[in-house]
Amino acid sequence: MEYQSGGQVPGASGLLGEVAEAEAALRAAAERSGATGGEDLAAGFDAVVAADQKIEPRDWMPEGYRKTLVRQIAQHAHSEIIGMQPEGNWISRAPSLKRKAILLAKVQDEAGHGLYLYAAAETLGVSRDELYRMLLSGRQKYSSIFNYPTLTWADVGAIGWLVDGAAIVNQVPLCRCSYGPYARAMIRICKEESFHQRQGFDILYTLARGTEAQRAMAQDAVDRWWYPSLAMFGPPDTESTHSAQSMAWKIKRFSNDELRQKFVDMTAQQATVLGLRLPDDALEYDEGSGHYRYTAPDFAELMAVISGDGPCNRQRIAHRRAAYDDGAWVRESAAAYAAKRRERAA
Ligand SMILES: [Fe+2]
Ligand SMILES: [Fe+2]
Repeated sequence: MEYQSGGQVPGASGLLGEVAEAEAALRAAAERSGATGGEDLAAGFDAVVAADQKIEPRDWMPEGYRKTLVRQIAQHAHSEIIGMQPEGNWISRAPSLKRKAILLAKVQDEAGHGLYLYAAAETLGVSRDELYRMLLSGRQKYSSIFNYPTLTWADVGAIGWLVDGAAIVNQVPLCRCSYGPYARAMIRICKEESFHQRQGFDILYTLARGTEAQRAMAQDAVDRWWYPSLAMFGPPDTESTHSAQSMAWKIKRFSNDELRQKFVDMTAQQATVLGLRLPDDALEYDEGSGHYRYTAPDFAELMAVISGDGPCNRQRIAHRRAAYDDGAWVRESAAAYAAKRRERAA
């Protein structure tokens, strides 16, 4: 594998190809005539899912399906906007104007991802305001990865390469999710995530070929972000609580461990192009299976970070709460303006 600065991340074009195929499948599903279960609503729902067509907001759906999607899409949306914080921390200190402009665009993309996803969740009958409140009160979660600090500039590279890389592997199958608004939002998000992964890879590639200190900084960042990135795929299949039903509903298409393996295979090869080492002595290509063997992350640590003991949990939520409170006047003014317009129209 080869790489030229600014080019495509080696081995990542397959993922973009999968997004393009999912996009074509989405169009084809919309053109097929509607599957039907006759008069029976539940049979109608099952028929649409079985035919790989999309459930739309106007359609009947089981309450469990709706609740699962609200929980998953909200958690995803929260992760996008909380994820702006660790990297936003480096916008003012990026090493050049070019890197600053790129990082700024990336962090703005994450705000956009939050927006599409909150809008997708709203089609299920919850308001964005409700979801915000659930995030701020801790009743809904966001990805635990964003509770780790960004200590050096190389962390911005490691986040782009590993965290956005893991996000794409997780999210490409969601482009085929049975719920239409979620699937459509994911197409655009995945295309943008691929740019995020490129910018991270490019930062590390440059640092790895810089001074001894820059190289060490890049290696240190990869050492710290590797296991949290592996943990992004969730608990092992044997302990995953929501998986089976989500698979049956075609919300989820692959198990946590299958996706984790796909990520390891992709990343292990890219690491050799970067000339950086993944911090796992057991990492080794297995001829027989065609996959890399690796050491699984410490899930006890993951659970501690999820339940609130990560290094930055309090800081992240405090920052979000301050942003929400600081924005109160905007919400109040908008409501007052709308009320005045209604009054005039009456
Ligand atoms: Fe994103
Ligand atoms: Fe991203």
